[in-house]
Amino acid sequence: MQRQSSFKYEGQKLASWYFTVAVILFGVQLVLGLVSAIQFIYPSFLYDILDFSIARMIHINALVVWMVYAMIGAVYYLLPDETGIEVVGIGIAKLLFWILTLAVTVVVLVYIFIQIGPGKESTIWLITEGREYIEAPRWADIGIVVVVLGFLVNTFLTTMKGRRTGIMTVILSDMIALAGLYLAGMFFTDNISMDQYWWWWVIHLWVEATWEVMVGALAAYGLIKVVGANREIVEMWLWIEVAMLFGSGILGLGHHYFWIGTPEYWWEIGALFSSLEPLPLVGMFIHVLYDWGKEKGIKTGTGEDTSSNNTPALMWLVSNGFGNFLGAGIWGFFHTLPQVNIYTHGTQFTAAHGHLAFFGAYATILIAMFYIAVQGKYGIKKTKSHICFQNGDIPHNFRGFRNDCGTYYCRI
Ligand code: HEM
Ligand code: HEM
Ligand SMILES: [Fe+2]
Repeated sequence: MQRQSSFKYEGQKLASWYFTVAVILFGVQLVLGLVSAIQFIYPSFLYDILDFSIARMIHINALVVWMVYAMIGAVYYLLPDETGIEVVGIGIAKLLFWILTLAVTVVVLVYIFIQIGPGKESTIWLITEGREYIEAPRWADIGIVVVVLGFLVNTFLTTMKGRRTGIMTVILSDMIALAGLYLAGMFFTDNISMDQYWWWWVIHLWVEATWEVMVGALAAYGLIKVVGANREIVEMWLWIEVAMLFGSGILGLGHHYFWIGTPEYWWEIGALFSSLEPLPLVGMFIHVLYDWGKEKGIKTGTGEDTSSNNTPALMWLVSNGFGNFLGAGIWGFFHTLPQVNIYTHGTQFTAAHGHLAFFGAYATILIAMFYIAVQGKYGIKKTKSHICFQNGDIPHNFRGFRNDCGTYYCRI
C-alpha cells in the first residue's frame, strides 16, 4: 500500500526531492570510488572505457554535488519548520530543482562520453574546468549560480516573512558566504599557482568554514528535533562556533599555501591558525553529547519520556560529533604544521584525511537529516533502529525478543 506523505509544507516535499537526488549521487560516488580503488590494484581495469582519472573525478565531484544537494534539501526542510510558514516562491523553487538536476545529469554524461581531447577554451566552457572537486564546465557554473541565487532569494524572503530564529539567521548568512565563495573558483588564469590560490578559497573555505557552520546549525536543529534539546543552549553554542570557526578557518587557509609558490609568511599564518581549528570541533563534539545528556537528565527528574524520537538520526548526529572531531580535527592537525606537511603532502595520508573528514563531518549529519525527513514524510512518532512488530502481526518464523512495552524487536 502506498503511504500518504504527511508533510505539512510544500517546501518539505521539495526537500525530499533534493534528498532523493543526493542519495542517488551518493550511490554513484561509492560505485566510482570502488572502481578507482580496483584500478589501484589492477591498473588495466576498465582501461580506455572508464579511466582512473575519470572515475576518481566523478567520485569526488559526485561527493561535492550530493552534499550540496543534501544541504539545500536540509535548508528547505527546516525552513518552513523554523519560520512557521510555507517557502516563499515555492513554484520557482521547484522549477529551479529540475533545472539543476537536468544540468547535473548532462555534465556527468559529458564526463563519461568525452573522456579525452584537447584542452581548449571550448573545453572549459563545455566539458570541464579541470579544477579538482568542482570540475563543472562554465555553462553549468553559470547555471549553478542562477539556481543558487534563486534558492537564496527564496530562503531570504521566507526568513524575513516568518518567525526569525537564531538557527535561520546563521544559515542564511552562511549560505550567502558559501554561495559567494563559489565565484572564486570560476575564472580562468593560466598561472597554476594563482589558479590554486583561488581554488582553495572555494575548497578550504567551504569545508573548513562555511560548511562547518552549516553543520553546527543542522546539529542544533537536529538535536531540538530528535531529543527535544533546549533551543537557547544549542543556539548559544552555535554562535560560539560561528565566531571561532570563521576566525580560525579563514586564516587556516594558509595550510594549503605552503608549497604552491605563495609568499613564505603563509607558513606561520597557516601553521598557527589551522592548529586552532580543531578547538571549535572539540566544542561541537562536547556540545552534541553534553546537551543531550543534560536535557535527558533534566527530563528524567520530571518523569517525562527521555528517549529520542528518532534513534537512527540521533546515532548519526553523535557519529557526526565524533567523526568531525577525529577526521577533520585530529587527522587535520596531524599534517597541518609545515614541518610535518613537507613529508605527508599529497600522500595517502592526505587522501585518508579527506575520506575521514568528509565522511565524519558531512556525510553523517546529512544522513541524520535524511532520517529526520523520512520520519517527517511518514509522520512516524518514534523512529527506531530496530524493527518493531506489533503483537498482532509477528511473522511466525520470527526469532526475537520481547521488550517491556509488549513490542517485539529483532535487533538493536
Ligand atoms: C570537515 C572538514 C575538513 C574536510 C572535509 C577536509 C578535507 C580535506 C581534503 C579533501 C583535502 C585534500 C585536498 C586535495 O585534494 O589536495 C584536505 C587537505 C588538507 N587538510 Fe583538510 N579537511 C577538513 C578539515 C581540516 C582541518 C580542521 C585541518 C587542520 C587542522 C585540515 C588540514 C588539512 C591539510 C594540512 C591539508 C593539506 C594536505 C596536503 O598538503 O597534502 N583539514 N582536507
Ligand atoms: C566505497 C567506498 C569508497 C572507496 C572504495 C573510495 C576510493 C577512493 C579512491 C581510490 C580515491 C582516489 C585516491 C587517490 O587519488 O589517491 C578516492 C578519493 C577520494 N574519496 Fe573516496 N572512496 C570511497 C568512499 C568515499 C566517501 C564515502 C567519501 C566521502 C564522504 C570519499 C571521499 C573521497 C575524497 C575527498 C577523495 C579525494 C582525496 C584526496 O585526493 O586527497 N570517498 N576515494
Ligand atoms: Fe584546509
